[in-house]
Amino acid sequence: MKIAHIVLSIFALSVSNGLCETRSAFEPGKIWLDNNGVHINAHSAGLLFHEGTYYWFGEHKIEGDAGNVAHVGVHVYASKDLYNWSDEGIALKVSDAPNSDIVKGCIIERPKVIYNAKTKKFVMWFHLELKGKRYAAARSGVAVADKVTGPYTFTNSFRPDNTMARDQTLFVDDDNKAYHLYASEDNKTLHISLLSDDYLQPSGKNVRVFENRMMEAPSICKRKGKYYFIGSGCTGWAPNAARSAVADNMFGPWVETGNPCVGINPENKMGPEKTFGGQSTYILPVQGKPDAFIALFDLWRPKNAIDGRYIWLPLQFTETGLKVEWMDKWDLSFFDCPTQNVSKVR
Ligand code: GAL
Repeated sequence: MKIAHIVLSIFALSVSNGLCETRSAFEPGKIWLDNNGVHINAHSAGLLFHEGTYYWFGEHKIEGDAGNVAHVGVHVYASKDLYNWSDEGIALKVSDAPNSDIVKGCIIERPKVIYNAKTKKFVMWFHLELKGKRYAAARSGVAVADKVTGPYTFTNSFRPDNTMARDQTLFVDDDNKAYHLYASEDNKTLHISLLSDDYLQPSGKNVRVFENRMMEAPSICKRKGKYYFIGSGCTGWAPNAARSAVADNMFGPWVETGNPCVGINPENKMGPEKTFGGQSTYILPVQGKPDAFIALFDLWRPKNAIDGRYIWLPLQFTETGLKVEWMDKWDLSFFDCPTQNVSKVR
């Protein structure tokens, strides 16, 4: 009797701490607890699937507006099913050395990690701003690890292709060539830059795309030989309308296909004109489900950065481009529907 009581109390305690909660659906914009019952702290996500596990990298934020600069580093979580995430700690730590480019108080944004099969290294690129210089440096930082969860060793930071780089993402193509997409020229024009074979620096081959469109928050995927892009306009932490584009070739020409968003986020009443309150960060291919991709957005909370939310929604492909439809709750069975373009609201 007594033992049963104790077991029950431990169970009740774990449930109240969120420890036992197993998720089987996505709930865009809601608090998303990790295995310790803590809201996932990995903003501007970049994901990597490696040896049967997904890894979610993102900016670790702290409370208040102080959280808009880096106090901790890049956080990493692991999951087998995309719903339930375990905290794997800080993959890249900010430095205490005052002369380090990544000293505590710098800005580290939009970290993305890719795996180089030749060198067997995990390579992280991120947008770096130097401490106390606001957004003037416009650099990219690179860090490397032997193990997916790190620790990542910061190698260097620079202006790639000798030009400004802010919002960014990475993409590895089927031929293992990796590309760096970044908002350049004071955010006016996006650049797409082929990386060196070891993924550690630009190769020198790059193009300017979406000239003078102020295209930010780049995210990209490839489906049936075509490249698809989702980005945003340039309004800082405030949401604006999402944009999309398609190309047959990574280096273009890229054709804009409009705002892919449909529907409304009931919590903040924001629809397509504000991307449901979010901003694009990544497009995730779902393993084992052909043509299944999830579009990832951040719902920023700049006054209390740690409370930023995640909007994950299925990416649908239409005759003319992309569609991202708001859903309060959904799961991966969405992709089992033979015509993926038919939307299902659960
Ligand atoms: C956004 C950008 C974020 C962050 C923010 C700062 O436009 O996408 O990554 O840089 O501005 O205001």
